[in-house]
Amino acid sequence: MTVKEQILSLLDRNKGGYISGEEIAGQLSVTRSAVWKAIKSLQTDGYSIQAVTNKGYSLSPLTDILSAGAISKYLNPQGQKLRLEVYKTIPSTNEAAKILAANGEAEGKVILSEEQTAGRGRNGRPFFSPRGTGIYMSILLRPKLSAAEATLLTTSAAVAVALAIETVSGKDTQIKWVNDVFMDGKKVSGILTEASVSLENGRLDYAVLGIGINVALPADGFPDGLGGIATSVFAKSNHYDDLRCRLVAEVLNHFMEFYEHLTDRRFLSGYRQRLMSLGTPVTVMKDNQQREATAIDIDDDCRLKVRYVNGDEEYLSSGEVSIKI
Ligand code: BTN
Repeated sequence: MTVKEQILSLLDRNKGGYISGEEIAGQLSVTRSAVWKAIKSLQTDGYSIQAVTNKGYSLSPLTDILSAGAISKYLNPQGQKLRLEVYKTIPSTNEAAKILAANGEAEGKVILSEEQTAGRGRNGRPFFSPRGTGIYMSILLRPKLSAAEATLLTTSAAVAVALAIETVSGKDTQIKWVNDVFMDGKKVSGILTEASVSLENGRLDYAVLGIGINVALPADGFPDGLGGIATSVFAKSNHYDDLRCRLVAEVLNHFMEFYEHLTDRRFLSGYRQRLMSLGTPVTVMKDNQQREATAIDIDDDCRLKVRYVNGDEEYLSSGEVSIKI
């Protein structure tokens, strides 16, 4: 951690209270002038830090700015092994993580950003990523999985996101096959997994698991076209303390637990419980054809079993088809 990050972490641990420049300088073995410079720079970054003579510095208790220090407070021992890097703005956290992966970065790097200027969704769609009201993060993984098994990453991540949202908000979530998380019938989170496969052994060289969560309603609401289909975990963006940091940590804690035992599919019961399309009519789009069917089950690989109107049944993989519910 840089001196600036260490100071933020110290202030965060004393949030609402005062800590003197002398004490900070002593704890971090830096000069008081280095502390002052770092505080100025944090204030420029948008952190609300009060400086009061004879008392010291105090970070506003209402601060909800993503920081590695604030997130790691809530990480369990497995999560503590992750290496978090937080940006104020970035084109896409997935893109940044993929560049790191291609340059040999080890598994466990997590890129987060307060906003994305070119956030990407599935099927080439953009992902709306406004500043300060969402979570945009990408986890770099090097799993020992075949390309076909990569779905397990995405589906287990959907359960991790669902559990995290439920813990932090106390509200229910649902999962729309294959990996969208819903609240009250609207999408609250999307996941985009991008992977590179080794041609030698057909196994994943790396996977970048990109997670986007709408945490609060953006000040100007959702843009046209999203308003009717998107929602956020909380209605308001202000006064919710460090819930975003907690939410990030909860997602990482749950995901890492599933990831350590991925092929045991510990996440599967949580996935089944929340799956919203079972028993409902779906439209299957495959090979440029559209067919009406009923979703009846998922198998242990999270393939969706559908029954067509003529009674034929088929297991569908997410990569091959899209369905409308
Ligand atoms: C979808 O719903 O279509 C998937 C959305 C995935 C969005 C996340 S936000 C973090 C990461 N970076 C990106 O550019 N996309 C993913």
